[in-house]
Amino acid sequence: MTLSPSVPAEQRSLNGHLFHVSKTPDKLRHLINDIARAAKYISYAIKTTEAGLAGSVNMFGEEQVKLDVLSDRIIQEHLNENRLVATYACEEHDAVIELSPDAPYSVVFDPLDGSSLVDANLAIGSIFGIYEGKEIIGRTPREQVAALYVLYGPRTLFVYSTGSGVHEFLLNDVGEFIILREHLGIGDNAKNFSPGNLRGIDETDGYRDVVESWLKQQMTLRYSGCLVADVHHIFSKGQGIFTFPASKKYPNGKLRHAFECGPFAFLAEQAGGAASDGSQDIMDIPLTAVGQRCPLIIGSKNEVARICSLLTAV
Ligand code: AHG
Ligand code: MN
Ligand code: MN
Repeated sequence: MTLSPSVPAEQRSLNGHLFHVSKTPDKLRHLINDIARAAKYISYAIKTTEAGLAGSVNMFGEEQVKLDVLSDRIIQEHLNENRLVATYACEEHDAVIELSPDAPYSVVFDPLDGSSLVDANLAIGSIFGIYEGKEIIGRTPREQVAALYVLYGPRTLFVYSTGSGVHEFLLNDVGEFIILREHLGIGDNAKNFSPGNLRGIDETDGYRDVVESWLKQQMTLRYSGCLVADVHHIFSKGQGIFTFPASKKYPNGKLRHAFECGPFAFLAEQAGGAASDGSQDIMDIPLTAVGQRCPLIIGSKNEVARICSLLTAV
């Protein structure tokens, strides 16, 4: 992992990095730049939209748009304007939406991840996956040509991969994403654990054993309720494990395969980590519907494998 001072000046901006380092094809580079621009508007909207009043009426009697709906609109507008996106699928719509039928890419996205945390002022995010062609259903996350996320925390971070490592950028005061760290890596063993869906601890065979094994090893608990923040923690610290298994309430888990599990599986693999649904690599599970859910075990390779064996052992 290298830090920004060692990066030549022309490679420090997101666009420069995409061009000079990742050698990203021009159209894909333009699309990622447009997504980054949308993220800046979302970041601004988060700071300026009345938190907690989402969906209600403001002091002028105007309807307040929920931040997740607003984020969705911002992204749609940016995807629409570049004529690079044939179709997209996202959390706010049940069906795949067609934009420019002959355009080269399709995009899957979660406009605002962790939206229930907005009023608590905890970190939230956006997640994107990009495919070539207009088909989304039937594809596997392995076919993504890029995956990225934005983390709106005390600072706004942008983390992307186009298949040659995972790179992290910081939104600076003049509105530019500048390189923070290149080649984020996830080590094979975890010291931190992030246990989602604990309410179902006795509803998925083996989950209690998994959690007890973490406690016994005196591992460090890190769970915020925002997938982007929780998995970014793993990328940032270079190790860790996040789980969101199935339960009675969520028979296929809660997280959405297309725009939550899929993009993060791509990024984890690029960083040397792994992602599984308990028995299968997330990267190889086909997308069957926009709203398809999937259990998720993601992070340090050895820990993902250990947990999958505990969850399937009983
Ligand atoms: P979203 O806000 O897009 O609906 O996603 C919330 C997700 C995800 O960010 C997080 O990992 C998970 O919900 C947390 O679930 P619990 O609140 O059940 O822990
Ligand atoms: Mn989400
Ligand atoms: Mn969401």
